[in-house]
Amino acid sequence: MKVLVIGSGGREHTLAWKIKKSRWVSNVFVAPGNDGMRDVAKLVDISATDIDGLAEFARENGIDLTVVGPEAPLEMGIVDHFERNGLRVFGPSRKAAMLETSKIYAKEIMKKYHVPTAPFRVFDDPDEARRYVKEVGGPQVVKVDGLAAGKGAFPCEDEMEALEAIDIISSGVFGKAGDRILIEDYLKGEEASILAFCDGKTVVPLESAQDHKRAFDNDKGPNTGGMGAYSPAPVVNEDMVSSVYDEIFLPMIDGMRKEGRPYKGLLYAGLMITEKGPQVIEFNCRFGDPEAQVVIPRMATDIIKPLIACCDGTLDKVKFRWSKSKAVCVVLASGGYPGKYVKGLKISGIEKAGALENVVVFHSGTRVDEDENVVTNGGRVLGVTAMDVDLQTAIKTAYGAVGKIRFQDRHYRKDIGKKALLHLEDL
Ligand code: AMP
Ligand code: GLY
Repeated sequence: MKVLVIGSGGREHTLAWKIKKSRWVSNVFVAPGNDGMRDVAKLVDISATDIDGLAEFARENGIDLTVVGPEAPLEMGIVDHFERNGLRVFGPSRKAAMLETSKIYAKEIMKKYHVPTAPFRVFDDPDEARRYVKEVGGPQVVKVDGLAAGKGAFPCEDEMEALEAIDIISSGVFGKAGDRILIEDYLKGEEASILAFCDGKTVVPLESAQDHKRAFDNDKGPNTGGMGAYSPAPVVNEDMVSSVYDEIFLPMIDGMRKEGRPYKGLLYAGLMITEKGPQVIEFNCRFGDPEAQVVIPRMATDIIKPLIACCDGTLDKVKFRWSKSKAVCVVLASGGYPGKYVKGLKISGIEKAGALENVVVFHSGTRVDEDENVVTNGGRVLGVTAMDVDLQTAIKTAYGAVGKIRFQDRHYRKDIGKKALLHLEDL
């Protein structure tokens, strides 16, 4: 089989790496990918949002399966376009992807199908939003409706902060994504992510993970795309896994079918584990990054099976097996990320780190320059994943590998997995 992966980050490197291991796969292509993925895939110089170009490539090269990594092409309707042209593609249709591309749509569907989520209000008019915030006071989370690259949610401790958030949104910096404002109750608890394969009628949750969204240790600093992750997340216990299935995934998959938008592909539930149980913070319509870097390596099943089954509607036939090992991924970012940072800094030690036992280095933003040096080419640069029978050893191994990789002003969190260790001590 020939498989095309669309996207260019660490998530896509992980997908390509796992797909390449499949006994059924002969060639993996990534469009546009990054130079660090050349170990497992052939790079194709087509942008992730050039839908016509990608479909033409898939047709001309006899691609058997296309896997869409990021949300932007899903929002543009890449799946609808590929399917219209008889091409097999993993991901939700444009209408189903609205669970991520419109936070308000997602909240309304959750309300309709009684899926646990924070109570919310929707505003077209910023002045009304201001009046509401003044009326209710207290902590609230103010959000833009549309995609905002992880920057569209403002957790606000008080009325002042909420008013500031509304000012920022109504200034127009988010463009159309900020036309409508969502304000929801501030949930207290610990976050976890559960990703699930879906074929429109069957849904299979994968093992849990926890992301580290803030830039600095102890969850301080600005929100980022994700600075590290581990899997499984001990905050999600066995009972919770079944309640997440019964109360969240099943009603969502049934609901979306009833809405005439059957959900196929990967559904990512961002959860807050509250005193009342798991509540949905958000849905994403694709694998998480860096959750993919810890969940996928633990999957003992050949990933081609569920990917194809999600497209063909046969997910109920797939048996899943998981490694008992725990996985942790530490992200190395450019100094300054998520704000301004420079690109083109020479990186050393990647091979040394990758040669360590139980370590894989996934590339998020790297490039090979004219002198054949691997250099930084993004905010998040590398994800170092380590696996071991216990989380403590996996963390130690991951940081050992991180220590071998050098580039100017590199930044990484020193506390990835710490919260999980605290839970494990409590058990
Ligand atoms: P979102 O863009 O909806 O994923 O939100 C980004 C981040 O904001 C989440 O990962 C949470 O840390 C935080 N957040 C969003 N909604 C809430 C909420 N209702 N209560 C508490 N924190 C939230
Ligand atoms: N790790 C968060 C995301 O992929 O959206």
